[in-house]
Amino acid sequence: MRESLILQVLSVDASRQRHRYGAPTSCSAAAQNRGRFNVVNTRDTRRLLLSLFILSATVCSETTMGANDNSDSYVQTGYAIAPVPLNLQGKNPALVGLGSYNVNTSGCHDCHTWGPNGNWAVGGNPFLGQPKVIDPAYYLADGRSFGPGVVSANLTPDENGLPAGLTLSEFISVFRTGRDPDNPARILQAMPWPLLGQMTDRDLESIYEYLRAIPSLPGNR
Ligand code: HEC
Repeated sequence: MRESLILQVLSVDASRQRHRYGAPTSCSAAAQNRGRFNVVNTRDTRRLLLSLFILSATVCSETTMGANDNSDSYVQTGYAIAPVPLNLQGKNPALVGLGSYNVNTSGCHDCHTWGPNGNWAVGGNPFLGQPKVIDPAYYLADGRSFGPGVVSANLTPDENGLPAGLTLSEFISVFRTGRDPDNPARILQAMPWPLLGQMTDRDLESIYEYLRAIPSLPGNR
């Protein structure tokens, strides 16, 4: 887990470089510099430069992988479409962005955001031709009823910072098993876990990381 977080941070750094310089330029610049620095003659310096080269090769190959799977544009789009301010302190920024993409382009909001005007702020209902506005006062904070005893859950962080009050493994288990975390004998209704549960661990982790970053709305139920 820690290793994968380090890799993600590395990949964020690599992607930042890519935005500034473009991947091929930055990798070929590393190669050019290698040639230039070879004139320095001490053994220690050579050793240091060799390790820097290995590091830059690692980052460059990671950069290329990132470019292939388009993960950067998901992260950027995720940040662009988040309807609430995000608290990134102690979070993995790449995962938060990806999580925002996964949450805000899928149906979580349809069922988990429910205010006096349904899913939308007053005057912001796109189904009435109004410009879409999600009311931050109700964002993912529960309240939509799906029949007796079935109300969507509050997904915002609790007083300990846990989304829906769940640890990461409990959260992933909700999607994989559809079991109510408070009462595993009960199967969650309406919640589309049979489909959402097919997401990769990384996507579910990203959703969890994003939900850790959104404002806490404890009193909405
Ligand atoms: C079609 C409506 C719907 C959609 C879409 C939906 N949910 Fe749910 N979700 C529910 C309902 C309803 C419950 C409560 C079910 C019950 O108690 O039987 C629930 C429960 C949950 C729970 C369990 C919380 C707990 O502590 O019991 C989590 C976590 C959750 N949803 C996350 C999500 C996320 C994240 C998404 C989007 C990726 C999502 N849901 C999309 C309706 C939905």
